[in-house]
Amino acid sequence: MIRKCLFPAAGYGTRFLPATKAMPKEMLPVVNKPLIQYGVEEARDAGLTQIAIVTGRGKRALEDHFDISYELEHQIKGTDKERFLDETRELIDQCSFAYTRQVEMKGLGHAILTGQPLIGDEPFAVVLADDLCLNPGGDPVLLQMVNLYKQFRCSIVAIQEVPREETSRYGVIAGEMIRDDIYRVNTMVEKPKPEDAPSNLAIIGRYILTPDIFELIAQTEPGKGGEIQITDALMKQAQRGCVLAYKFKGRRFDCGSAEGYVEATNYCFENFYN
Ligand code: UTP
Repeated sequence: MIRKCLFPAAGYGTRFLPATKAMPKEMLPVVNKPLIQYGVEEARDAGLTQIAIVTGRGKRALEDHFDISYELEHQIKGTDKERFLDETRELIDQCSFAYTRQVEMKGLGHAILTGQPLIGDEPFAVVLADDLCLNPGGDPVLLQMVNLYKQFRCSIVAIQEVPREETSRYGVIAGEMIRDDIYRVNTMVEKPKPEDAPSNLAIIGRYILTPDIFELIAQTEPGKGGEIQITDALMKQAQRGCVLAYKFKGRRFDCGSAEGYVEATNYCFENFYN
């Protein structure tokens, strides 16, 4: 079954400059927890405990976060502050972490291909940690997708309806509806203008991918923005087999944008912080 979750985290995070100048976007805190930790917790809660992270220059904080800080732990040992590290320690114990570096930032598709040596020949999940997905009281989004995979055994992308004028920020799909929340994809366009978009169903940062995707990415030429797009490789996979798009249950916050980040912060403060 699915055991591994890949986190492409090598991007420059230019929309969040200057905060991301010397710090990875994935380390931005939503209230008191970095985005990457929300993502890893979601993976763990879906049963995926082998965490693979694609990093890049200036991203060492990610590795340090999922490690012990002896000095800090010594300092707070025996005080009531120890509890602030409990969740993180638990996560470190429950998961294994492997890292590889993307040397040139050639796009999301390329970042996923860079993770191939950590994944091997098995189906895996991909989480873009700057998309924060929450479903309080219900199954986490990745668990919903893992359960679907058990039934359909093909690549699955998470989608949500977005306003037409926002299609140029996403990969957009169209397809045949096979259940009220599942489409079999037959078209996929990266960042289309509203007038060119095949629908308003946008791909967000959660994927289940079968390993043949690696070969398809390797054959993919740079597309929109000169980057190797995962959407183009998925389109080929949809043509030769099957790719599903799943309208997940829950909320998603685009924490790569200031608006989404503030919204997520307010939401988490009101709902989870104590
Ligand atoms: P984004 O385009 O949202 O991230 O890529 P970015 O490039 O970091 O942000 P902006 O647009 O400049 O503000 C989606 C995800 O893919 C990763 C990013 O880290 C992010 O998680 N990514 C993107 C890579 O790992 N490598 C790349 O070459 C591009």
